[in-house]
Amino acid sequence: MTSPIRTERHDDILVIVSDNPPVNALGAAVRQGLEAAIREGTADESVTAMVIRCDGRTFFAGADITEFGKPMQEPGLPTLVDIIEASDKPVVAAIHGTALGGGCEVTLGCHYRVAVPSAKIGTPEVKLGLLPGAGGTQRLPRIAGVKLALEMTAKGDPIPAKLAAQAGLIDRIVGEDSLAADAIAFAREIASVRPLPRASEKTVQADPDAIAAFKKDNARRFRGFEAPLANIACIEKASDGSSFADGLAFERQEFMRLMMGVQSAAQRHIFFADRQAAKIDDVPADTPLRPIRRVGVIGAGTMGGGIAMNFLSAGIPVTIVEMQQEALDRGTSVVRKNYEASAAKGRLKPEQVTAAMDALTPTLNFDDLADCDLIIEAVYETMEVKKDIFTRLDAICKAGAILASNTSYLNIDEIAACTQRPEDVVGMHFFSPANVMKLLEVVRGDKTADDVLATVMALAKTIRKVAVVAGVTHGFIGNRMLMPRQVEAMKLLLEGATPEQIDRVHVAFGMPMGPFQMSDLAGVDIGWHRDPTRIESIRDALAAEGRWGQKKQAGFYDYDEKRNPTPSPRVAEIIEDFRKSSGATVREISDDEIIERTLYTMVNEGALILEEGKAQRASDIDVVWIYGYGWPVYRGGPMFWAQTEGLPKVVAGLEKHGFPVAASLKDAAASGGKIK
Ligand code: 3HC
Repeated sequence: MTSPIRTERHDDILVIVSDNPPVNALGAAVRQGLEAAIREGTADESVTAMVIRCDGRTFFAGADITEFGKPMQEPGLPTLVDIIEASDKPVVAAIHGTALGGGCEVTLGCHYRVAVPSAKIGTPEVKLGLLPGAGGTQRLPRIAGVKLALEMTAKGDPIPAKLAAQAGLIDRIVGEDSLAADAIAFAREIASVRPLPRASEKTVQADPDAIAAFKKDNARRFRGFEAPLANIACIEKASDGSSFADGLAFERQEFMRLMMGVQSAAQRHIFFADRQAAKIDDVPADTPLRPIRRVGVIGAGTMGGGIAMNFLSAGIPVTIVEMQQEALDRGTSVVRKNYEASAAKGRLKPEQVTAAMDALTPTLNFDDLADCDLIIEAVYETMEVKKDIFTRLDAICKAGAILASNTSYLNIDEIAACTQRPEDVVGMHFFSPANVMKLLEVVRGDKTADDVLATVMALAKTIRKVAVVAGVTHGFIGNRMLMPRQVEAMKLLLEGATPEQIDRVHVAFGMPMGPFQMSDLAGVDIGWHRDPTRIESIRDALAAEGRWGQKKQAGFYDYDEKRNPTPSPRVAEIIEDFRKSSGATVREISDDEIIERTLYTMVNEGALILEEGKAQRASDIDVVWIYGYGWPVYRGGPMFWAQTEGLPKVVAGLEKHGFPVAASLKDAAASGGKIK
């Protein structure tokens, strides 16, 4: 097999080039090739300096994640970085694209680094539940200082070349289109510098206050995660006066601990699940896409406005339609306020706000949607209203336009059937707030055309959403799985649990909030029949009393004016009344039972969804729950989590409480297999 690494001679400079598409991951063949090339450069007396650069779209984007968990072939990445650093001739990293993880660590082993202005450098290992394990935690603070190293390793976001240059991570920013030549010229300039600057030989100023402050400031963000703290501990080790060798040994020990742990396995699963979700099994990847130059949004409420923002932010003009001028004005001003708030936080430039607002065309005239390539309906969740809208769209939209509904439950096939072009109809289920939440459920109707589906999936990437294909089923993937959870949570109240206990168990599990906190946030009155005399459930009773949740400062909890919740004596009374009238036997409910009845039931529903072909794969379900509902990523989504719990345990837990268990779940448990 030919090596992905080749060497080129430019007089006295040896240029080492990697060509390992798509992202130049540092797999075994790359590492072996790099080691051989460095040895070639050091052995050849006519070589005065070396340059490492990459072909293709990026510098090394990290270790090859697909090799994790398998026996590591020599040289390992830490050894390779040591070999580069130990070279007695200068080695220059020439960076474009993203130098990430092991790729960043390779640059830190190099004596010098040059980069194009658009390059980024970072250590995203924490997002895989890991830490930079090839000396990165020890070299990075020695070059860039403790504070930046903490930010980069424990949060994992890459930094732009300019900032990296200010921090000493980049020695020179070179021409965007002349990296190869500029790197050679630079190498020639520094070829005779001695002693060579080696990161491992530097010392770093201890900064315990910065470490303590960083931990405190980010406590909420890091809650439940193991890797951020391990990254911080390694940075601390690099700055506490320990030798470089001791620091490396500590880093290795922590890296291996994380690598063997469940959290990293879960986070790596989600890395690949994210990318897999974008693929549609029976639609070829090269399906020609429909051009989307203008998007129409029907409804300027919270949802419609949020949806519009996604496209405006991506530079796609939006026509937004409302029935009443007042609602239109209100919606437009909310969009503007949201953009201005982002600008105030420094996330947007004022001219970006102007550009986005200029690209928004508010109108009361439905006919203005005629020139849109994609129209997304985001109005009231009633089939009759939706049918009326789609009939009108059918009459006015141009041929080939994609007609999408943001419905969160309703049957897309039924909506499509009222048009003459059901093949152009698709579901695009955004999650609230739509400009923030990453998930997009793309609902494939019976007749949805392949190119419509492919176009919407590609568009999702443009607007930076993670899209998952769902089939037509009540509530699609996410909300359908929410239902058994909600049903069981309400039953548990009758049997003796409190809203506080159930929410506490969910938060301790890692969810951002429990089922009752979520009801209060979303609105207890959502979906309520609005007849205060008809009280059939605890929720009806709350809604009838105006306890509609946070917006009324009363729901399952009482709220103060800052929306801080406290347990509600009135809700306790209501629950008590229902317990009495239902004749339920009240008993102590264990936290384990709450998990079994509210989370195992979700896994069971997920298995049914797969059996019915309403989701393409189990990992898609995990993606839905991570990005749509805040399932803790370190647990890998419900289906991955079920595997880590042990499927026999999940099945036994479900059977103990008398739930009918999905056949596929039972089979996988019995055979020791996986839910697919
Ligand atoms: N290893 C293996 N495969 C990788 C990979 C990696 N490090 N990074 C990306 N890929 C694969 C993806 O799975 C995808 O495969 P597919 O086409 O079969 O689905 C393909 O490369 C393209 O990736 P993206 O779709 O993500 O391409 P983008 O252009 O959107 O993004 C990127 C490029 C920013 C480099 C992004 O892929 C990324 O963030 N990669 C991961 C970077 C990372 O986490 N590096 C650290 C690795 S751990 C490490 O280095 C440990 C060390 O410290 C010891």
